[in-house]
Amino acid sequence: MLRFDIITIFPEFFRGVFDFGIVRRARAAGLVEVAAHDLRGWTHDRHKVVDDRPFGGGDGMVLKPEPIFEAVESLTGLTGGAESFRQASKRVVLLSPQGRQLSQALAAELAGAERVVVVCGRYEGVDERVSEGLATDEVSIGDYVLSGGEPAAVVLVDAVTRLIPGALGSETSAVNESFSEGILDFPNYTRPVEFRGRRVPEILLSGHHAEVARWRRRAALRKTRRNRPDLFAGVELSEKERAALDEEDE
Ligand code: ADE
Repeated sequence: MLRFDIITIFPEFFRGVFDFGIVRRARAAGLVEVAAHDLRGWTHDRHKVVDDRPFGGGDGMVLKPEPIFEAVESLTGLTGGAESFRQASKRVVLLSPQGRQLSQALAAELAGAERVVVVCGRYEGVDERVSEGLATDEVSIGDYVLSGGEPAAVVLVDAVTRLIPGALGSETSAVNESFSEGILDFPNYTRPVEFRGRRVPEILLSGHHAEVARWRRRAALRKTRRNRPDLFAGVELSEKERAALDEEDE
């Protein structure tokens, strides 16, 4: 059982979002548990203040370190910082645009933890001591700026949950998909055979399994080259595949 604890100033944001599809099923099966906690619950003043002005000046407000440290330490029962969390198979993920980018590999790593505490940043930023002395990981979901970490937390929980053994219909279905082999998924078609003048590639209707497999690999490579040249640069091609792709270019 993997438990997610999300620390946020908008716990209501998460009401209902984990009640669909794979995540719902994984929760029902007892494979994961997800709880959202109000950061303001770890303040001690009457106004439950969680932010303050930045030292050095500037616009906007910065999330204070004390409530975040208290929240993480009370949820984990540990006060030793990142090293103590890792030793206990716990991860503390700070979501921010300054993090390292979420990947399938990092999602798989987190799926092997016992506990993942997710800290949602807000406003202009989070006091850097959360990154320096509390989080095991600072993670971004991509090179764009969200108004807070909450949508990123939903993305993280989804990507990690579907990698927990048993979460998908069959144990192997996460193995043959996009990114697991460094290229994009192959294109899929279903009925009808012709739709608005576009036909399904004939090979897929032929029943020749080996040819279908070869077509899928090449179609996936072509699509990766077109949409993700960064991924394509790292792909190892056989001589035959290289020749086939070059031929198509002519
Ligand atoms: N908070 C704001 N932008 C973010 C991003 N791109 N990833 C993760 N958390 C964020």
